[in-house]
Amino acid sequence: MNIQSDFSLKTYNTFGIEAKAKEFTSVQNIKELIDVLKLNKDIFVLGGGSNMLLTQNINKLVVHVDLKGISIVKESEDYVWIKANAGENWHEFILWCIEHNYGGIENLSLIPGNVGTTPIQNIGAYGVEIKDVFSSCEAISINNQSITTFEKEDCNFGYRESVFKNELKNQYIITSVVFKLTKKNHKTNSSYGAIEAELAQNNITNPSIKDISNAVIAIRKSKLPDPKVLGNSGSFFKNPIVPIETYKKAVLQYPEMPHYVVSNTEVKVPAGWLIEQAGFKGKRFGDAGIHEKQALVLVNYGNATGQEIVELSKHIQKTILDKYGIAIEAEVNII
Ligand code: EPU
Repeated sequence: MNIQSDFSLKTYNTFGIEAKAKEFTSVQNIKELIDVLKLNKDIFVLGGGSNMLLTQNINKLVVHVDLKGISIVKESEDYVWIKANAGENWHEFILWCIEHNYGGIENLSLIPGNVGTTPIQNIGAYGVEIKDVFSSCEAISINNQSITTFEKEDCNFGYRESVFKNELKNQYIITSVVFKLTKKNHKTNSSYGAIEAELAQNNITNPSIKDISNAVIAIRKSKLPDPKVLGNSGSFFKNPIVPIETYKKAVLQYPEMPHYVVSNTEVKVPAGWLIEQAGFKGKRFGDAGIHEKQALVLVNYGNATGQEIVELSKHIQKTILDKYGIAIEAEVNII
């Protein structure tokens, strides 16, 4: 195993933050991963680096999970179960699936990051979440290197939540994920307003999975910054789920506030709206800022430190709490 010291992580996190790993190694297969874990338990696991904000150097061995490979596990008349190893790039995997006419993940096009991290926060966009196509995943115990298969019901998926973020946090490394996708009669989901509008603009009435993917790519490109151009981690905050009473109180003062009903007692409020209405959209504080087209996204204009971005996020959280009585939580892992 090749372990490098004092290793810069700038190109390994989509925020583009300069931080050093005390030690760094990249593993390409399970045996290498097991060998690393046998020697070191106090590690930091790095996937695509797309959902984290580094606020300090990492004084540990950083293990970059670079396991590649896509294979078909089983097939039926209508479905295919595809296993993708954790280090596969998520968007490239989607394109591969579309090319092979496997449907179900096209709405999740262009989300940065790798396959292995998609279940951890149950990534979602445009009406689809990983849980809708997730069949199982394999994970290796950091402590004893045993390999466990987690079925969907073991994962406790919720809005940007799973068992891997909660009860089992930092205990397992996901090595592969199996997705159940359609081979025909694809159940395309174009219910999200922006997708409908994009398809209509292109005169598409009966969209293929490729059409949906292209629509999502166009929408994301128009709203979300490309991390290769402008450092970011997608939505920095989760959309808060609040008691109906909290919402009712806030809406008296802000009648335009959008909301989505979650249950009889709770509603979800778009944090992007709250942040925009509080005047933050497009604002820049040194090299840290709020994206001009999507207020949920914090950006690094070049040389922001993780600390500067965290401070900006705290300033936004406090302003939103004071103004609307609603607490917003970071979605991104702050390290
Ligand atoms: N809004 C604003 N201003 C903004 C952004 C949004 O007023 O700057 C309002 C919109 O007008 C709309 C509502 O907020 O009424 C919702 O906006 P949008 O549909 O763009 O989605 P979002 O809630 O901002 C969520 C996900 C995104 C995902 C989109 C599309 C979270 C935290 N974010 O954003 O996920 O792409 O829906 O499904 O749930 C990500 O997690 O990195 C991410 C980009």
